[in-house]
Amino acid sequence: MLLPAGERWFVDVYREALPLVRDERLRADVRGFMGQEATHARVHDAVLDHLRAAGLDTRPYTRRLESMFERGFGARPPPGLPLSPRTWLELRLGGIAAVEHFTCVLGRWIIERSAALDAAGADPTMMALLRWHGAEEIEHRAVAFETLGHLAGRRAYVMRAIGMALAVPIMIWLWDRGTRFLVARDPALAGARTGYRDFVRATTARRVPGAELVAAIPRFLRPGYHPAGEASIDVARAVLARVLADVRAG
Ligand SMILES: [Fe+2]
Ligand SMILES: [Fe+2]
Repeated sequence: MLLPAGERWFVDVYREALPLVRDERLRADVRGFMGQEATHARVHDAVLDHLRAAGLDTRPYTRRLESMFERGFGARPPPGLPLSPRTWLELRLGGIAAVEHFTCVLGRWIIERSAALDAAGADPTMMALLRWHGAEEIEHRAVAFETLGHLAGRRAYVMRAIGMALAVPIMIWLWDRGTRFLVARDPALAGARTGYRDFVRATTARRVPGAELVAAIPRFLRPGYHPAGEASIDVARAVLARVLADVRAG
């Protein structure tokens, strides 16, 4: 539910940033990043269409999310926040670099846990989608980080630290709301409730990531950090090659 609005927001922010990028290689990476995120958003939208057809309409959640991105993190800073357009752009890029750090960690997690989740009966179509998406997150893991470095220079560290400080509580809040929303509305879970105990049980069983996400925070905040060491690009490319072969085989 978070991905379509979130990834479209990435693309909007990058549309503002692209004309300022002076390095040809980075410009090509940024264009590739925008294309991948726009595709991810569309494909995850198809999942929401599927849920709606099955009786679970996610629009009350996603519409609020979209308006949060538009009003809170749009082209202009929220009223009362006296920031220059450049600082506002760098801050949002810092937030995206932080979120992209997590999407890389999540991409690695889904690929490494893939066989175990398949064996546990995870939906095969959803797993195929997450493996593909996860591999592309690993592939472009450094683009947001490097764009921020290119545009913010010595301010980059402060921007990504603030980005992380904002991203963590916002993501926890959105995941919490989103999980409760889904459980309350899923026709197959009538009358069910959920709480943090369920989350702890799921992370202990390694059905959802937990400790990996917490451990990722201090790593990102190390001053000399670079995302290159986060995950293996060869593993990601092997996954993408397999996805492509599966698509070609129909
Ligand atoms: Fe993505
Ligand atoms: Fe991404």
